[in-house]
Amino acid sequence: MEKKIIIIGAGGVGNVVVKKCAMNPVYFSEIVLASRTLKKCDAIAAECKKIGLPTEIRTAQVDADQVPELVALFTKEKPYLVINVALPYQDLTIMDACLEAGVHYMDTANYEPKDVAKFEYSWQWAYQERFKKAGLMALLGCGFDPGVTGVYTAYANKHYFDEMHYLDIIDCNAGDHGKAFATNFNPEINIREITQKGKYWENGEWIEIPPMSIHKPIDYPNIGPKESYLLYHEELESLTKNFPSIKRARFWMTFGQAYLTHLEVLQNVGMTSIAPIKFNGMDIVPLEFLKAVLPEPGTLGENYSGQTSIGCQIKGLKDGKDATYYVWNNCHHADCYQEVQAQGVSYTTGVPAMIGAALMIEGNWMASGVFNVEELDPDPFMELLNLHGLPWNELHNIELPHEY
Ligand SMILES: NC(=O)c1ccc[n+]([C@@H]2O[C@H](COP(=O)([O-])OP(=O)(O)OC[C@H]3O[C@@H](n4cnc5c(N)ncnc54)[C@H](OP(=O)(O)O)[C@@H]3O)[C@@H](O)[C@H]2O)c1
Repeated sequence: MEKKIIIIGAGGVGNVVVKKCAMNPVYFSEIVLASRTLKKCDAIAAECKKIGLPTEIRTAQVDADQVPELVALFTKEKPYLVINVALPYQDLTIMDACLEAGVHYMDTANYEPKDVAKFEYSWQWAYQERFKKAGLMALLGCGFDPGVTGVYTAYANKHYFDEMHYLDIIDCNAGDHGKAFATNFNPEINIREITQKGKYWENGEWIEIPPMSIHKPIDYPNIGPKESYLLYHEELESLTKNFPSIKRARFWMTFGQAYLTHLEVLQNVGMTSIAPIKFNGMDIVPLEFLKAVLPEPGTLGENYSGQTSIGCQIKGLKDGKDATYYVWNNCHHADCYQEVQAQGVSYTTGVPAMIGAALMIEGNWMASGVFNVEELDPDPFMELLNLHGLPWNELHNIELPHEY
């Protein structure tokens, strides 16, 4: 059943979502790409045409901080669903506009206010009753992490465990984009995420640690051991709520030494601060200025070598016995570039967003209210991952490296 969609955001992830949706006219009859800078939308639309994708992309300019502008666009276009791949700051305005215009909603990152780097679902979960009452769905965090990591966990829970006890999400980017310093998704959001305190769930409470203070090498499939750092990541909040048998949940991410050294220097000189400073009589936010001088994530794909590996390692009980499970995907940057002119981090986010949208349109994942991905049936999503560029691998009852 094909339906019309609006995609908001024409950055690294937006480029992938648009192209993957345009490749699948069986789900998406019409695609409108809207963002703050119209020429970026037009460039993506032109590229879709150039590479011969079957669906024509129409474009529009919109400031997604402005609810009336969004409502005007949604009312004029009457889409079935809006996919928000702008920034987390726009989540609530887009949700408000969806409610006003009677349109389903989806995103890949949870709301955070501009002036505090606070990653939590409370603001968006508070929309539960309004979406329910309106008979609309809001699907939160449908990228890779959050997104596929929640689906992997739900799949493990459905098929392989009676009780899950330990969850480690392990995320490695063993790629090389050839730049001295760049971030693989929006620099502002990326640096806010990494410089905040680390946090993990243990025995019913959050344990806070100084940023990047716990790390160790983790052995990634086809990559080998890479130093991995314990971070707070938003899916830990929804997964520990939705699977209360989990006693400990942690998130690990790799960083190269050059990246960490640059970050440390930038932090030491105050360039990662989100507190405004006076500059030539104007208020500027150092991190926003830093973003303006860094490469855009959407431009990193060409000549990006190496691969990503993201997965979930779970330990728990099945039929009264200890069981372990590891499920993961490896994705080559060069393959992503060849297919949709994107690097692997944009690709691994954009493909799940397309799949989530397809499942909502097909009715497999359609219900009224606000949902995190792990609350829905993981099986059709797992099937589509294999068909649309993110095939997964699994191992059972192996020795997991996190026993301490
Ligand atoms: N779940 C996951 O696995 C995952 C992984 C990576 C990224 N993400 C999320 O994906 C989203 C996009 O990331 P990205 O790497 O594509 O970032 P990006 O390249 O910086 O793109 C962001 C896009 O949003 C647009 N935008 C910003 N503010 C806007 C506004 N007020 N109105 C309309 N458009 C606006 C930008 O427009 P301009 O070009 O005019 O600035 C840009 O086109 C982020 O929320 C990020 O956190 C999720």
